[in-house]
Amino acid sequence: MSESTVSERVDIDLGARSYPILIGAHLLEDAALIDAHVRARSVLIVTNETIAPLYVPTLRRSLGERRIAEVVLPDGEQHKHLTTVSRIFDALMEARMNRDAAVIALGGGVVGDMAGFAAACYQRGIDYIQIPTTLLAQVDSSVGGKTGVNHPKGKNMIGAFHQPRCVIADVATLETLSDREYRAGLAEVVKYGLIYDVDFLGWLEANAEALATRERRAIIHAVRRSCEIKARVVALDERESGLRAILNLGHTFGHAIETASGYGNWLHGEAVAAGMCIAADMSARLGWITTADRERAVQLLVRFGLPTEAPKIGATRALALMGMDKKVLEGRVRLVLLRSLGRAEVVGDYPAEALNATLAQHFE
Ligand code: NAD
Ligand code: GLY
Repeated sequence: MSESTVSERVDIDLGARSYPILIGAHLLEDAALIDAHVRARSVLIVTNETIAPLYVPTLRRSLGERRIAEVVLPDGEQHKHLTTVSRIFDALMEARMNRDAAVIALGGGVVGDMAGFAAACYQRGIDYIQIPTTLLAQVDSSVGGKTGVNHPKGKNMIGAFHQPRCVIADVATLETLSDREYRAGLAEVVKYGLIYDVDFLGWLEANAEALATRERRAIIHAVRRSCEIKARVVALDERESGLRAILNLGHTFGHAIETASGYGNWLHGEAVAAGMCIAADMSARLGWITTADRERAVQLLVRFGLPTEAPKIGATRALALMGMDKKVLEGRVRLVLLRSLGRAEVVGDYPAEALNATLAQHFE
């Protein structure tokens, strides 16, 4: 097979760290494509116990004559911590991988975040390639170079910025993904419409049925537009000194939900969906969007079968967990809110009463 299986290509423009995001069906089987985009002759495939039997044999075939080692991690967000990452270092050492080796992250965001972090640290940084196999990873986590792990007291608290050399998003792998995981990915897709592109939001509403039933044409469009938006934002603010934080709409509330519920109980995308409803509600309380706008966002998430209500963890607990967010500046939680549909802002100077009322409404 040839590169003709690539339906869409999005380039992320970061000077010397620029790379392509290739989107299409059956890219994993495309040995010529894999060969062209995996430059290293020695690779460590990092995956997990669910994905390994499904996709490692195909990837190995496409990697051809390279020296290939493999590490299969336990599955789940609850394993996204430093002890699991050290297994990746062990595998790199045991296979005697040098700085010219590359890590290949084959899996969802959990595998991708840990494999990328290991690549950022091993011998002070080696190449890695993202082959995301969940919708969430294809539209979000594989792109942009954020890598890392959780700490028991806070999500994604330990990490590094390290851009991949290439992202290969094979949408055919989504066929084996559970409905719940697929829907969780749609939450991040909705996020892009809400923060950046009201026309895309309209497209999502018009194509909600096609997306819910996993029509390939619709998925490829959604992945491409999501990646384009993420690529544009990351190119402007790679290390999140400002604008990039808009990609975290719903995440500050969502991280509180995930941490309070125990990692893995609420899926990341589910927590983001409920968190975006809270952010939309607070934006409406401030008079930035109308209640009709807020309902438009909520109803789209409902159509995708996503949770729109937070668990009742208590406003005080939610605020304490939000205080661990990486957007906290001088003791104040900065929030991503909607100035209008399709336009997000990072805000630190909101009235405390608006946040308190929002937290009481959603967490009590
Ligand atoms: P995940 O990696 O846990 O994958 C979800 C589940 O689907 C897992 O059980 C996995 O084994 C399984 N799976 C993956 N691909 C499959 C396939 N093709 N067929 C069948 N099963 C498959 O979860 P996720 O939603 O992909 O990622 C969530 C993680 O991503 C969170 O840890 C979150 O913090 C992180 N994240 C990171 C960024 C970033 O910028 N780095 C952005 C968003 C989210
Ligand atoms: N998912 C948020 C970011 O990549 O910045």
